[in-house]
Amino acid sequence: MTKHVLVLGGDGIGPEVTAAAEAVLRTLDERHGLAIAFEHALVGGACFDATGQFITDDTMRRAKAADAVLFGSEGGPKWDSLELTGPPEARSGLTRLRRELELFANLRPIRPFDAMLSHSTLKPEVVKGVDFIIVRELCSGIYFGEPRGIERKSDGLLHGFDTQDYSEPEIERIAHAAFALARSRRKKLTSVDKANVMESGILWRRTVTRIGERHYPEVRLDHLYVDNAAMQIIRDPRQFDVIVTDNLFGDILSDGSAMITGSLGMLPSAALGAPREDGRRPGLYEPVHGSAPDIAGKGLANPLGAILSAALLLTHGLGRPDLAGLVEKAVGRALDDGVCTPDLGGRAGTSQVTAAVIEALGQI
Ligand code: NAD
Ligand code: IPM
Ligand code: MN
Repeated sequence: MTKHVLVLGGDGIGPEVTAAAEAVLRTLDERHGLAIAFEHALVGGACFDATGQFITDDTMRRAKAADAVLFGSEGGPKWDSLELTGPPEARSGLTRLRRELELFANLRPIRPFDAMLSHSTLKPEVVKGVDFIIVRELCSGIYFGEPRGIERKSDGLLHGFDTQDYSEPEIERIAHAAFALARSRRKKLTSVDKANVMESGILWRRTVTRIGERHYPEVRLDHLYVDNAAMQIIRDPRQFDVIVTDNLFGDILSDGSAMITGSLGMLPSAALGAPREDGRRPGLYEPVHGSAPDIAGKGLANPLGAILSAALLLTHGLGRPDLAGLVEKAVGRALDDGVCTPDLGGRAGTSQVTAAVIEALGQI
């Protein structure tokens, strides 16, 4: 049966890196008969310039119908400085996709490749063997809470305000996703919150603890405050297996963790919803990085975060973890051969790195 993959390249280096990921998927499709039908549409600033919206209703419909969405990145100085109002879904195609497809579970794996250990900003002996996954809640929290706004209040002063708000069921569903993942790995879950200061953190901690005690007694659960968690990730990242945290803390901790791998350009992600009645699981796959305006259009973007996101798409969207394993091996081979972009200290461009991965795929 045909599998529909909607490719949304977006802005800046987004289209450059999704083209690389698509090329890898096409190679596997030819070889393994995956019957992928690729579709393309605009998103982000590119879409805003063409239509006045960051994503169109038609593209939303196609995203909902697709087996998987392959996303690049959106945004850039031209659009970030627009003074837009309304909920985040009206101001960002990516946020609307996450919210309307209910992609609440964002998996962000942190696993450095051996060839890049010496390129990490941390010592090689600290990062060798690191293998953890940040499970970031993606549909709620301070990104979406109401009220929010910029208003002159009764004190006569202009206030900018946001609301951190988590319902109990929202915490329960991300806790289940994280515990189930930990159970399939090294059975260790670290929940990260700010329960010493925030009410939402108190409910978060209480709920995660209850879900663990009732449903996942075999998983060891620890709690960390987010400030300590940020330090622990830098001090000894090998101590972690699965980290579950809220929308904002997960965003920040993942960019920081990227340097374990040597570059933000290396990190992939999968944003997953609950399985549908027909067993399919909605999913959007994208590198963790943004549109990198400083290097866009130069052919220098590291495509590996996007290519590794295609590997997550193979696992979670197309049910082919075996092929995902091949992609990861091929990336390792390309790096072993010293083919990498300048962010990793190399001299290769996006297309050379992509070609090296595709060539390595043919040799595995
Ligand atoms: P960024 O991730 O775009 O870039 C941060 C730094 O990392 C830059 O120096 C950039 O050159 C480098 N970098 C990022 N990806 C790279 C890659 N693949 N290869 C080599 N170097 C890479 O973050 P920013 O500069 O804070 O944001 C730029 C724009 O992207 C903003 O509009 C922001 O809102 C948007 N953004 C979008 C997403 C997304 O679509 N998922 C994520 C983050 C930021
Ligand atoms: C990410 C990005 C997004 C986020 C932005 C672009 C809305 O930083 O995917 O990590 O904050 O979630
Ligand atoms: Mn981010």
